[in-house]
Amino acid sequence: LELPSDVKEARQGGVFIALDFADLSEALVLTNAIGPQHQLYKIGLELFTAYGPLSVSQLIAENKKIFLDLKLHDIPNTVAGACRSIAKLGAEFLTIHAEGGAEMIRAARITCDEEAGRYAKPPLKLLAVTRLTSLASTPEQVTQLAILAQESGAHGVIASPLEASAIKKNCGEDFLVVCPGIRRQDSTVDDQRRVSTPGAAADAGADYIVVGRPITRAKNPAVSLKEISDEFLAGKKHKGG
Ligand code: C5P
Repeated sequence: LELPSDVKEARQGGVFIALDFADLSEALVLTNAIGPQHQLYKIGLELFTAYGPLSVSQLIAENKKIFLDLKLHDIPNTVAGACRSIAKLGAEFLTIHAEGGAEMIRAARITCDEEAGRYAKPPLKLLAVTRLTSLASTPEQVTQLAILAQESGAHGVIASPLEASAIKKNCGEDFLVVCPGIRRQDSTVDDQRRVSTPGAAADAGADYIVVGRPITRAKNPAVSLKEISDEFLAGKKHKGG
């Protein structure tokens, strides 16, 4: 399966702010506090199950780029159907579980490609969740799942910065790696088990990082974003030579 041209563009990367809110108006207060120049936001199960497509369309109306973190995992036909519905919404990234298997991932990818031409929207790109951080895993297991996801048509994976460099080595630079579990040095880790700094994630080869509470619960979210984003982008630039 061919890599779409916009994957190269997607590799510019950045910081996805996780909008883990139960209330859409709270999410919009946050996006306003951050300001119009920042576009990357992640909508997860909490907001999406409460507001559905409206949560995506409201943010797209504000010119945001949406990563829809729904972690799909079902039989291929059902996941393909969900992808068909999601393609209409205009999100740019969607998560599916690598453990759903090759056939499920392939069905999702074929559907995304079929739907891509129908709407005046960027094509939906698939990010495979390798192994949930709440479950035990080995680096080999995670790398194997990343390879399976890539061979089956995923555009990238969600992984910890500790696994990112092995994934890039095995899957190549154009296979996107998106890393959650990010904290600045000296900050609280909340319920994250293993954390990395934005700089360490950049060094490991992350294209994007996902950051929630360190920004959404900061006294000044815009300042927190700037600190995190500066550290991440400086690290990426350094790595790129
Ligand atoms: O607030 P915090 O920065 O910990 O939020 C991290 C975000 O990344 C949450 O939306 C969480 O669901 C997501 N995530 C994660 N670890 C994973 C996969 C997703 O923290 N392994």
